[in-house]
Amino acid sequence: MDDFTGARAVITGGASGIGFGLATALLEQGAAAVALADVELGALDAAVDRLRAADLGGEVIGLTCDVTDPASVEATAEAAWQELGSVEVVCLNAGVFAGGAVWETTEADWDWVLGVNVRGVINGIRAFVPQLIDAGAPAHVLITASIAGIVAAPASGVYCTSKFAAVGLAESLHHDLQLSGATHVAASVICPGMVATNIDHGERNRPSALGDATDTPTSQLAVGAIADTLRSDAALDPLVGARHALAQAKAGRFYTTTHEGDLWDRLVGNQNDDRLAGRPPRFQMYE
Ligand SMILES: NC(=O)c1ccc[n+]([C@@H]2O[C@H](COP(=O)([O-])OP(=O)(O)OC[C@H]3O[C@@H](n4cnc5c(N)ncnc54)[C@H](O)[C@@H]3O)[C@@H](O)[C@H]2O)c1
Repeated sequence: MDDFTGARAVITGGASGIGFGLATALLEQGAAAVALADVELGALDAAVDRLRAADLGGEVIGLTCDVTDPASVEATAEAAWQELGSVEVVCLNAGVFAGGAVWETTEADWDWVLGVNVRGVINGIRAFVPQLIDAGAPAHVLITASIAGIVAAPASGVYCTSKFAAVGLAESLHHDLQLSGATHVAASVICPGMVATNIDHGERNRPSALGDATDTPTSQLAVGAIADTLRSDAALDPLVGARHALAQAKAGRFYTTTHEGDLWDRLVGNQNDDRLAGRPPRFQMYE
């Protein structure tokens, strides 16, 4: 889609951070309606109130959704089509972070992070894409992965694994839409750099049955470094990042980022050099 005017959008993880930024930016760009879909109910109600109060034009609704649960995502899709009348933009954005060395990350952390960041995207594609194809109208699925889905970082193996999978899902979705002739549905992937959100305390939505997150010096290093960066001047305002990603998507870019400047070119360029030379990946900061 090269224009979001009049579009009706569903945004998973829409109650906070980049998801809320995407919803806001879509309304700014003339979307007719946005549905914030989220598992954190208090934050969801507050986000809906805040976005309605911003008075950007367009309808704002909130939908309870746990992206790890296929039935919940199906119900969200059904409710969105019913309440909004149609859906043209789907942002599969909900995500969580856990840190730690690959071998010390607990099974519960693998389940939680892969459940939200990978199964959540799969559930979203399965629930929304067939209807977007059948509707026959121009549509766009934007999957929020991460720079960590392109270039891996130390002490974050579970997160990087999940985000590499999210990038692979977006690329596969693109290929399958082309193969099936559903070229009215576009797919793209957002690979944010460091954005000032609440992802550093994502455990607020961690199911209690999974117990506590991995707690080791390495996981503390990762979580601490992220928290420090997100609370520093280096972290971007989520709305600024969302506007940039949407502008890139509208311009037809498949791989979009939140940051202006040479971050993407530098990281991907260095990575390609290492891959072509067969070298181990160098350590690269996401800023
Ligand atoms: N903040 C960053 O620097 C950064 C960088 C790269 C990628 N990302 C990605 O951006 C996306 C948004 O994260 P954010 O940084 O805005 O964090 P955030 O914590 O501010 O927002 C994440 C949202 O996802 C929701 N959520 C969590 N589990 C859910 C579930 N099971 N079902 C439905 N919703 C659920 C949360 O309630 C929250 O509203 C994530 O996919 C994240 O991995 C963030």
